[in-house]
Amino acid sequence: MIGKLEVAADRVALNIKAAESFRDAAKQSIAERGRFTVALSGGSTPKSLYALLATPEWNKQIDWSHVHFYWGDERCVPITHPDSNYAMVERELLSKINAPRANIHRFPVELNDPDSIAAAYEQEIKRNFGADGMPKFDLILLGLGENGHTASLFPHCPALHETKRLVVGNWVEEVKSHRLTFTAPLINAGRQLVFLVSGAGKAQVLQDVLNGPRQPEQLPAQLIAPIAGALTWLADKDAARLALPA
Ligand code: 6PG
Repeated sequence: MIGKLEVAADRVALNIKAAESFRDAAKQSIAERGRFTVALSGGSTPKSLYALLATPEWNKQIDWSHVHFYWGDERCVPITHPDSNYAMVERELLSKINAPRANIHRFPVELNDPDSIAAAYEQEIKRNFGADGMPKFDLILLGLGENGHTASLFPHCPALHETKRLVVGNWVEEVKSHRLTFTAPLINAGRQLVFLVSGAGKAQVLQDVLNGPRQPEQLPAQLIAPIAGALTWLADKDAARLALPA
């Protein structure tokens, strides 16, 4: 298994573990580099984490003025669309904290064409990280789909084979839509990669990804292996049921 598996008793405990990781990574990054660059995951699992970070107890523990928000993937929909990952984070977190709007770097979905959106987002990342070398995000939050996808790296999609670009858009037949995503090289350059996996429905795929045969075409989450950073799989007991040693 690549990385370490940390198991929380339930969803509430999982979110607390994730909030602690977020807070500690922010503190360390701001102390060492003067800012904290985080790429957020979409989907439903992290919603409750973002809501927890927005509560007074957690809100006050993080210096939001030095946090730079990015998204590890996005749907090709307007920011007003219910499927927008940006809109979900805006609703659950950004609208409740005092983060400088200039530090919120969302996908420019108004450009409409997936390739143009991906190229523009890649340029913005390079501008903000400096063009030399691979940008190193301080924290990248990731989810795991029941089909083994992560970010919007879906099984059998062209994005899985990208080795040069940081961000790509591709048609995903499985969801009948274009998706925008960080590529594996960009994710793997991150300092801390944290998967959030919750619920019995993820038990089989988590076991397959962590302990099954290596087959990243079928299980793209197996592409995630940090070059120099740390990888943590945060899972609740229901999701970790099969992956835990017997
Ligand atoms: C997205 C996410 C995606 C998500 C997985 C798991 O845009 O949907 O980035 O990769 O993390 O699909 O989603 P759930 O957390 O909703 O199971």
